[in-house]
Amino acid sequence: MADALRDPKLKAAQAKDKSGFVPVNPFEIVVFGGTGDLARRKLIPSLYHRFLDGQFDDKSKIVGVSRSKHSRDDYLKLITAAYKEFSNDPSFDEGEWEAFCCIVDYVPIDVYDDKADWKALETAITANNCKGGGADNRVRIFYLAMPPGMYADTCDGLKSAGLATPESRVVLEKPIGKDFESAAVINDGVGKVFSEDRIYRIDHYLGKETVQNLLVLRFANILFEPIWSREHIDHIQITAAESIGVAGREAYYNKSGALRDMVQNHLLQLLCLTCMEAPGTLDGNDIRREKIKVLQALHMITDETAASHTVRGQYTTGVVGGDAVAGYMDELSDKADISQSETETFVALKTQIDNWRWAGVPIYLRTGKRMAERWSEIVVQFKPVPHSVFGKDAALSPNRLVIRLQPDESVNLWVEIKEPGAGGLRLKSWPLDLTYDEAFTTRYPDAYERLLMDVVRGRLALFMRRDEVEAAWRWVDSIHEAWSATKQPVKDYPAGSLGPLASGLLVDRDGREWWDGAAS
Ligand code: BG6
Repeated sequence: MADALRDPKLKAAQAKDKSGFVPVNPFEIVVFGGTGDLARRKLIPSLYHRFLDGQFDDKSKIVGVSRSKHSRDDYLKLITAAYKEFSNDPSFDEGEWEAFCCIVDYVPIDVYDDKADWKALETAITANNCKGGGADNRVRIFYLAMPPGMYADTCDGLKSAGLATPESRVVLEKPIGKDFESAAVINDGVGKVFSEDRIYRIDHYLGKETVQNLLVLRFANILFEPIWSREHIDHIQITAAESIGVAGREAYYNKSGALRDMVQNHLLQLLCLTCMEAPGTLDGNDIRREKIKVLQALHMITDETAASHTVRGQYTTGVVGGDAVAGYMDELSDKADISQSETETFVALKTQIDNWRWAGVPIYLRTGKRMAERWSEIVVQFKPVPHSVFGKDAALSPNRLVIRLQPDESVNLWVEIKEPGAGGLRLKSWPLDLTYDEAFTTRYPDAYERLLMDVVRGRLALFMRRDEVEAAWRWVDSIHEAWSATKQPVKDYPAGSLGPLASGLLVDRDGREWWDGAAS
């Protein structure tokens, strides 16, 4: 049965089932950075999939914008080549793709050029698509997939050109700044043109299927709430491991590092959803109000705790998935002309939330590039039973709730059971297993598909509010300050491993261990 459900053809057929999606109003979306990696790999394919499923039709309009002086035809060739290269779509249909391309246009604009042709953008946005379809009162969206330093100037340009109407929405990609101060400057600049309820700060982790399921698991089941606190939870681990390196993004990554690139946003968002109080509703501000309380209660890492509570690492040459790969410094010296770097490609840290529910419960976060495998998981480990009736020789493992975000989305509740058969009472840890691929046959939309449609529908719940981003930066800034004041070294780890040895010691010192179910 499970094998049948994994059959790619069956899945593709089900993916074409156009039911189950709430149709959205016609919209127009302008993607700044339209020729960039994110637009080619994620945004355009995501819009295509929503179009294919009939969530919107040819009354909508998509306009790519970047500095390159491409014609519309060039742009269509570029996104077509990218879709074929990256999307691995077994049911690709030229006719459907062409129908989609009909609603796509392209306008070259350099936002720093006084003579930039904003008029051409206005024409492209408002014109009908190539088959003549169009609509009045379309929802207008500007997606800024460009360096964050350009956000404010782009918004100014849109305002001066009269394109940013009071109803239009703007989507900001991460990172928003590189610290609290730069984030505040960007937020001020964008805020002069768009009111807060029109600003969608995206964190694509919040669009992942299992992340949303976390909300349902916690708040649609009575089971967990009574034990979701310091009384019953021993500790929490959140891991986002990647097997890829930084190839192609050295210039950005070398200034950022894993703490800014992954912890400030994705890991902290996961932590918030795991630990926040139940919001009154799923309304944007209700959820965001609860998340900000968690961020504000995060225990600060100080000069005194930097060495014992954090680990910085950088990968060296090694083997990942059977292939020999270069170390971080080798990748840099090829491309970014940097001979030395203290940038961390791995970070592990221990924190806690200073409130009544969580006081004293360690929360371990870990992320890294070029690790043994790609896997992201939230592990909630419960306390041991107070007394074992099975005698002192029976090894009892603690219960664990393991929420696997990717790959192979699943929720596993590890419980102790009796090993079947004769020969006495032997105990065994066994998962109550909800593996999505086996339980459900539907194709899950990519995180960007869901989030883009949420922008069209005006749903802010899965986007970050200004105060959230700034609170997350304050916490991350304090770690950078402690690292720099105490000169925390960056420790080597071979590509293909689970990070530096010190990462194991971070939890080992507390008598715990990382749950490496995926990689072990
Ligand atoms: C991005 C980071 O936000 O998330 C990348 O900038 C990282 O460095 C990526 O590779 C990971 O996303 P995912 O969805 O592949 O886990």
